[in-house]
Amino acid sequence: MSGRRVVCPGSFDPVTNGHIDIISRASRLFDEVVVAVGINKSKSRERLFTADERISMLEKICADYPNVTVQGFEGLLTTFCQERGIQAIVKGLRAVSDFDYELQMAQMNSSLADVETVFVPCSPEYSFLASSLVKEVATFGGDVSGLLPPEVLERLTERLAERARADQGD
Ligand code: PNS
Repeated sequence: MSGRRVVCPGSFDPVTNGHIDIISRASRLFDEVVVAVGINKSKSRERLFTADERISMLEKICADYPNVTVQGFEGLLTTFCQERGIQAIVKGLRAVSDFDYELQMAQMNSSLADVETVFVPCSPEYSFLASSLVKEVATFGGDVSGLLPPEVLERLTERLAERARADQGD
């Protein structure tokens, strides 16, 4: 059964409707999907949400999908896969521009371990969607309500307000 168990990795800072599109489609294609939230301590200052916050938001959203679980991971994704007997990584592709880097990572991961990467084209409505852009647009007051689940939008709005207050206090 391990061949039908896949990992959907990412930073998810925060999770967007584009991520959920890929996770939900993976959950229909495979028996079990592990959403793996990358914890890179050297990047923690760049993150808007802590690893625990990112995991908790994903857990609430993925509760709708009985075959999806969420875990944090540090270190190599291939080690995470090997430790759990997972043989495939699912990645969404938004545009051709994603492909170069994703191909490089897929080939590196398959050279490190016996782990394949399966690419899923994202739905066209999400082809422009990236967590980094959502954060930037929201920071400057743009409407991102159609791009995130309501609970994530709420957390994002709160966090940006906290940041703005902290910046004013500087
Ligand atoms: O959402 P992101 O930021 O594109 O996710 C990137 C992520 C977490 C999937 C990637 O950085 C990753 O796999 N990190 C784990 C470290 C690792 O295995 N690096 C080698 C990749 S070839």
